[in-house]
Amino acid sequence: MSYVLGLDLGTGSFKGLLVNQSGKVIVSQAQGYPLKTLKAGFSEQSPKDWLLAIDDLLARLINEVPDIIDQLEGISISGQMHSLVLIDKSGEVLRDAILWNDVRTTKQCQRIMEEMGEKLLKITKNIALEGFTLPKILWIQENEPEIWARAQHFMLPKDYLSYYLTNNIQIDYSDAAGTLLLDIDQGCWSKEIMTAYDLSDDFMPKLIDSTGFRGYLTERIQKFYGFKKPIKVFGGGADNACAALGAGIISEGIGMCSIGTSGVFLSYEADAQKNYYGKLHLFNHVLANRYYSMGVTLAAGDSLNWFKKTFAAEISFGELLKEIDTVVPGSDGLIFTPYIVGERTPYFDSQIRGSFIGIDRHHELKHFARSVLEGITFSLKDSQKLMESVAGKKFKKIVSVGGGAKNSNWLQMQADIFNTPIVTLKSEQGPALGAAILAAVGCGWFNSLEESINTFVSYGIQYQPKAKNVARYQEIYEIYRQIYPMTANLISK
Ligand code: XUL
Repeated sequence: MSYVLGLDLGTGSFKGLLVNQSGKVIVSQAQGYPLKTLKAGFSEQSPKDWLLAIDDLLARLINEVPDIIDQLEGISISGQMHSLVLIDKSGEVLRDAILWNDVRTTKQCQRIMEEMGEKLLKITKNIALEGFTLPKILWIQENEPEIWARAQHFMLPKDYLSYYLTNNIQIDYSDAAGTLLLDIDQGCWSKEIMTAYDLSDDFMPKLIDSTGFRGYLTERIQKFYGFKKPIKVFGGGADNACAALGAGIISEGIGMCSIGTSGVFLSYEADAQKNYYGKLHLFNHVLANRYYSMGVTLAAGDSLNWFKKTFAAEISFGELLKEIDTVVPGSDGLIFTPYIVGERTPYFDSQIRGSFIGIDRHHELKHFARSVLEGITFSLKDSQKLMESVAGKKFKKIVSVGGGAKNSNWLQMQADIFNTPIVTLKSEQGPALGAAILAAVGCGWFNSLEESINTFVSYGIQYQPKAKNVARYQEIYEIYRQIYPMTANLISK
């Protein structure tokens, strides 16, 4: 039986999923790596840690499933979006990667908006936000000229890993769209933006489709691991686009709520002609000439991790959330806003920080835990509301994936807060499954991504909104919405 390997280079961990031709997951492996927060607003990672992670993962996989050395056909990678990797002319990484949740680039975003204005939105369908790649490139130009002088190519994390595997410098459209350098209608790098910011053709990775062939595993790596035949590496995609593929989001009417380090509310778009005025992101999907819109909560799972680490480090997540169903919707007056690293949607605000409002003497850990989950979900509801109000979207159901799909109380909360049925996946594997599907289609196992979905995606339990909770959450959401404007200027440094 042949296999494909789907990899996901996440912010918190690296995941590998070995899948066979019947769509069965044979092995799933994951391991973490550090995130460096040198000062408030900074977020970096060492690309060396990613290489160690993939080497370790390949070794463990071969140990566990020895026949992959002659049965593995293809590999594809999904990865954290927007994060900047710079290499010099010999392929050496010049500095740690600046990640998508790093918000140091407010000044550079202002500069881009002043210089490009409406044109940027017309070309890239997005406005300049701190997380995107172009502002990070400008930050390097302005603050680390010695690094900039040696920078020969830029890549995103999963493209750097693919480069390590194949020696080819490429990027797929779904990740290229998140750089703020892609002319989305023309399907090429924007000469106008490149010229404005002094970026040469050589600096840009070559654009390929998500199912496109990147190249074979280098001979060195093939021999080192003892693979018997050449292994093909395929385009891959942005983690959110891959998660959407793995959740079967390939048509209108079904939304996706994904909670990882960030939180995402995502909707399929058949074309890129919607104008969200930059309020929501609009990017290429992993399906050629298809798109998706999304709103991003910068710290979703990250807020819960932070909360647990700070206030309940000694207990497990299971214990922390064990009693949240004994607390009423609305956490008995306690409201959390998840802006602990600034926010993206619906507020472009790198300075705002989170808050607990309404702390009462009777509140216990379980009230705080529930209010953290509610605050994260309210923040994603902000994106759902934008899609409904700006583009008149209506969601028949929402597929919940990631951390938010692991707890039945949180799933019910999502149904109640979104006031829409929530459905889970039978086998929840995250973006790595999307990457495996891309490799399977690249290998020719299926004629199209649409066709492959029938083999790989099946839905599990549905959670229906409960009228009483919906009504209560609507009242609390109105109060939640007032916290941002009231706290936006309350910053003590
Ligand atoms: C999307 C975004 C995050 C990262 C997480 O715009 O910045 O969701 O993709 O890996």
